[in-house]
Amino acid sequence: MKFHIMTFGCQMNVHDSQWLTAALESRGWEQAPEEEAQVYILNTCSVREKPEQKVYTELGRIGVYLKRDPNIFAAVGGCVGQQVGKAFFSRFPFVKLVFGTDGIANAPNALESLAEGAEERIALLDFVDVYLEREVPQDASRVEHATRQAFVNIMQGCDNFCTYCVVPYTRGRQKSRHPELVVEECRKLVQAGVREITLLGQNVNSYGLDKGGVGVTFAQLLHMVAEIPGLDRLRFTTSHPKDIAPEVIRAFGELDNLCPSLHLPMQAGSDDVLRRMGRKYDCKRYLDIVKSLREARPDLSLTTDLIVAFPGEAEKDFQQTLEMVEQVGFESSFSFKYSDRPGVAAVKMTPKVAPDVAADRLLRLQNLQNDITRKCLKKRVGTEDNVLVEGKSRKQEDEGVYWRGRDSAGRVVNFRFDEGVDLEGMMVPVRIVVAKKHSLVGERTGEPW
Ligand code: SAH
Ligand code: SF4
Ligand code: F3S
Repeated sequence: MKFHIMTFGCQMNVHDSQWLTAALESRGWEQAPEEEAQVYILNTCSVREKPEQKVYTELGRIGVYLKRDPNIFAAVGGCVGQQVGKAFFSRFPFVKLVFGTDGIANAPNALESLAEGAEERIALLDFVDVYLEREVPQDASRVEHATRQAFVNIMQGCDNFCTYCVVPYTRGRQKSRHPELVVEECRKLVQAGVREITLLGQNVNSYGLDKGGVGVTFAQLLHMVAEIPGLDRLRFTTSHPKDIAPEVIRAFGELDNLCPSLHLPMQAGSDDVLRRMGRKYDCKRYLDIVKSLREARPDLSLTTDLIVAFPGEAEKDFQQTLEMVEQVGFESSFSFKYSDRPGVAAVKMTPKVAPDVAADRLLRLQNLQNDITRKCLKKRVGTEDNVLVEGKSRKQEDEGVYWRGRDSAGRVVNFRFDEGVDLEGMMVPVRIVVAKKHSLVGERTGEPW
C-alpha cells in the first residue's frame, strides 16, 4: 500500500508520525507523494482554531482524489481525531479510521485490516491510564539516521488544565513511561548513530509524579540519559515553570551534553492573567527561576510561548507582558492570539478581547521579540560552537556550497564548506561571523567529526 502522511502541531505529533511511518514501512507499506497515495493519514492538532480548520480544508482537498481512485481512504489521528472522533465518518465518508493520541499504538494494525477490507470503519479513541508502549518497528531508527537527531517520549498527556488549553482533553491524563524503557530506547538510538536526543512530554518537569512513576524524578532521568556514552546532545521539551525542580536547574551546570537552551512557556507577564490562566506561578517566581538558571548556566538561551488577548486582558496587563519579555530577554518566542477551544474553562471567561485589539497586541509583541532576537543573535558573533548539520542550505550566499545546521542551543547556523563531502549528521566546529534576522552565518574552524 502507498500512504501519504500529513502532520500538524507539536513535536509530539512529528514524533508520532515518524513512528507510524516506520511501523507501516516495516509492514511493507510505502510512502508516496500525495497524487499517488492510496491511503491518507492526517496527524492533527487542536491547540488553536486554525490548525483544526486546516484539517477540514485538507480533507476536502483529498476528497477530490476519489475521482482518481474510488478506493482511496483516509485516517484522522492526533488531537482533532481524538476530539471530533466518529463524527468524521459521517462528514467525510472516505475517512475510515479515527485514532486518538493513545489509540495510535494500534493504528498500524487497524490500517492494515482496513486496507485488506477486513473491516469497514475503525475508531481507536479510548484513553488508557498507563503509558502504552508501542511496537518497535524493524528499522526503528531509520527516520532519524540522516540527521542523527531523535525524539524519545517520556510521558503522555497532561494534568494541569490551564484554563485555555485543550491538551488535557485530547491527550488525556499524564502517564509517565518507565525510566528503564526510556533509557533503553535512547541507548539503542545512540548505538544506531543518533547524536542528539530530545526527550518529549507535555510537562516533563512533572515526570514520574503520576501513577506510572517509580520514584525516578525528571532530574534523575536526565542524568541517566546524559550518561549514555556517545550521546553528544540532550534536550527536552516542554517544561512547566511551576514544576521545575532545583535539581533540573542544577543539571544545566552539571551535564556537559545537556544543551544550553530551555523552552519555558511563560504565557503572560501579568500576575492577574496568569492566575486566570491557572498557571500557578507569578512573575516573581518566573524571574527567580530565570535567575537560578542563568547562575547554573550563564550562556543559557531561553525561549518561550506567549498568549495575547486572553479573556479579560487589559492594555496594562499586556504592557506587563512586554516588560517581562524585555526583562527576561527571550531569544525567541512563539506567540499566539488566544483562541477559544471546545470544553476549556476560558471559553466562559469574559470580556473577550476584540479581534483588532488582539491582532494589534500580537504585532507589537512580535516586533519587540524581533528586536530582542536580533540583539541576542548579534551577541553570538565571534563565539565558537559546534554545528550539527541538517542538510544543504537552500540559499546560496555566493558561489560556494553552504550547509545548514544547529548550534548547541538550537540556533540555525549556515556555513560554507566547499569540499565535496556529505556533511549531513556531522558536527562541524564554526566561528560565528554574521548575525542575520533569524539565523547565524558561521565560518568553519576545524575538521568535521
Ligand atoms: N505543554 C505543552 C503546551 C502545548 S500547547 C507543550 O508541549 O508545549 C503549545 C502552546 O500553544 C502553549 O504553550 C500556548 O502558548 C499555546 N496555546 C495553547 N492553547 C491555546 C489557546 N487556546 N489559544 C492560543 N494559544 C494557545
Ligand atoms: Fe497540538 Fe497540543 Fe495536540 Fe500537540 S498536543 S498536536 S500542540 S493539541
Ligand atoms: Fe496545556 Fe498547560 Fe498542560 S499549556 S499541555 S494544560 S501544562
